[in-house]
Amino acid sequence: AGAVALAGCGARGAGAGGDAADGQTFSIKFSHVVTPATPKGQAAERFKQVVEERSGGRITVEIYPNSELYGDKDELQALQSNSVQVLAPASAKFTTIAPALQVLDLPFLFDSVEDIPEVVSPDSAAGKAIYESEALAANNIKVMGLWDNGLKQLSSNTEMRTPESLAGLSFRIQPSDVLRSQFESWGASATPLAFAEVYNALQQGVVDGQENPYSNIESQNMHTVQSHITASDHGYIGYVLVINNQFFESLPADLQAVVQESADEASAYNREVAATLNEQARTTIEEAGTTTILELSPEERQAFKDRVVPSVWQQYADVLGPDLIDALLAEQN
Ligand code: LMR
Repeated sequence: AGAVALAGCGARGAGAGGDAADGQTFSIKFSHVVTPATPKGQAAERFKQVVEERSGGRITVEIYPNSELYGDKDELQALQSNSVQVLAPASAKFTTIAPALQVLDLPFLFDSVEDIPEVVSPDSAAGKAIYESEALAANNIKVMGLWDNGLKQLSSNTEMRTPESLAGLSFRIQPSDVLRSQFESWGASATPLAFAEVYNALQQGVVDGQENPYSNIESQNMHTVQSHITASDHGYIGYVLVINNQFFESLPADLQAVVQESADEASAYNREVAATLNEQARTTIEEAGTTTILELSPEERQAFKDRVVPSVWQQYADVLGPDLIDALLAEQN
């Protein structure tokens, strides 16, 4: 890891009259897997807008949504080889190169969306595990921010009021061992699939269900092929906004500052829109009339939680760090 060729990378125009360093222009390719209308898609657009404005056109940003350029299976490799410069994958997508990022996959790490800002702040136990990740740094990946989607809901074609009702069902997961253990603790099985494959897998019955925030369910039309959603709020989808570090370091200092400030603005914007976009997506699903959304009583939600907390958390103490797990468990009580 770390040996990255910069040939043909994001820097262009060096030979096109750009003698002075400040005449040089750069382009950033930003690839992601969701639609432009989602919390990540909207924040990506904001990032582009602010970068282009503040750099006075010295940096252009091209956004490639919907896995159209790279998808879950190849985007991190594309980042490391500088074929793209910026990504915002869900934390679970980093499991192979930085397993500690699975901290954000821990079931019931959040009780409600109001907990999100504190739990993922750069100073929190979970935030530090991501911002200060040595594994990411060793892979030439610089963290510029954390974006939210929101809390995950369960979907399938079966009413899911109790953990027992998941027994025998198969669920699509992101490639995260923590998520596998979560579903197995509920008696279900788990199949990792790329995001772009989820709708077809549900439609064709390759898997019975999946978990995602409303925004992802609605924008992928999953609700049209899933008759039941349980409003479980049982987990989180957070995105790690990352840039190829060698590309970042190759930028003049003033442009490095522009990129980081733009990332900060896009992060703030993302936090503003994430909850609203998810509420709107839930309303769209309700209005479509294809899916019954089940609200759990506090006791019913607790029954799902009791199956996985603290057992799944403790199962990953070695991967995530025993001190981190202790700190998170202490915050629960
Ligand atoms: C998923 O794979 O379900 C999500 O990570 C997709 C996304 O980027 O929100």
